[in-house]
Amino acid sequence: MPWQGRDVVDIRDFSREDLEILFEAADRMLDELESGNVKKRLEGKLISLAFFEPSTRTRTSFEAAAKRLGAETIVFTAEEAMSVAKGESFADTIRMLDSYSDLIVVRHRYEGAALLAAEIARAPVINGGDGRQHHPTQAMLDLYTVRRLFSTIDGLNYLILGDLRYSRTVSSLLYALSLFRPVSVMLSSPSELRLRDEVRADLEARGLKLREVSIEEGLREADVIYVTRIQRERFPDPSEYEKVKGSYKVTRKLLETYAKRSAKVLHPLPRVDELTPDVDGTEFQAYFLQARLGVPLRMALLTLVLGGDA
Ligand code: NCD
Repeated sequence: MPWQGRDVVDIRDFSREDLEILFEAADRMLDELESGNVKKRLEGKLISLAFFEPSTRTRTSFEAAAKRLGAETIVFTAEEAMSVAKGESFADTIRMLDSYSDLIVVRHRYEGAALLAAEIARAPVINGGDGRQHHPTQAMLDLYTVRRLFSTIDGLNYLILGDLRYSRTVSSLLYALSLFRPVSVMLSSPSELRLRDEVRADLEARGLKLREVSIEEGLREADVIYVTRIQRERFPDPSEYEKVKGSYKVTRKLLETYAKRSAKVLHPLPRVDELTPDVDGTEFQAYFLQARLGVPLRMALLTLVLGGDA
């Protein structure tokens, strides 16, 4: 399907070919950023960033991407800042933004918010993360980072570690991986934070084979080690969070003991205590690169959706 005018709500709506077009465009954007010569492809466009839930990286990288391309942005960063606090419905807020923007990026704590926005708005809607299931642009960025690091997404061993139950980056990444041919996809989490059954069943129906492993077993085999924080704010019951808090930690020592020398650690960030800062200075660390690549990847995405010359 052509990219122009498309809503980006759920990674399952995209094919491998769509992602390859995106990654190739992101490579061109990265080259331009590095040479300091970015074409103002989106001059005259107005992009609304409607962030009903806090975000640093996703919001700033969308904003940086839009600005590098010459677009203007309107940013709402918190519920309090909007008339939502005065009782305006989500639908009305989206209608208002739609009436004066060319594209809307939405982040929301409720699952389904981005889909609802896409149904209401005439302008394309990009999901910047909603609820616990969807974060399509993060999954695109995660695989783009793997592609930059290993020159391939196929043929690698992936270990996905941490809060597999509430982390939307995990389910989106797994759906995206089901379009490729990984050698193995290993999951490691405290039992309370296992992947939800419905997500697992859907992934298996898409042909993705999953294997549960201990951290040590997973580290021995993995090329890509994807670490996530425990999603405290998504626990329905705070006492459940207390039970699993601090239950896993990826450290330099653990990596040096078990992981392959060539393995790379990714993390969507922010981190809390599950990935210790002593990993930062090692060859395993790839999460700062991953954060940096968010800009060219989102430049490519905005350009493709707005029909610019990508
Ligand atoms: C993630 C998110 O919001 O789901 N952050 C991000 O977009 N980089 C991960 C997280 O909050 O843990």
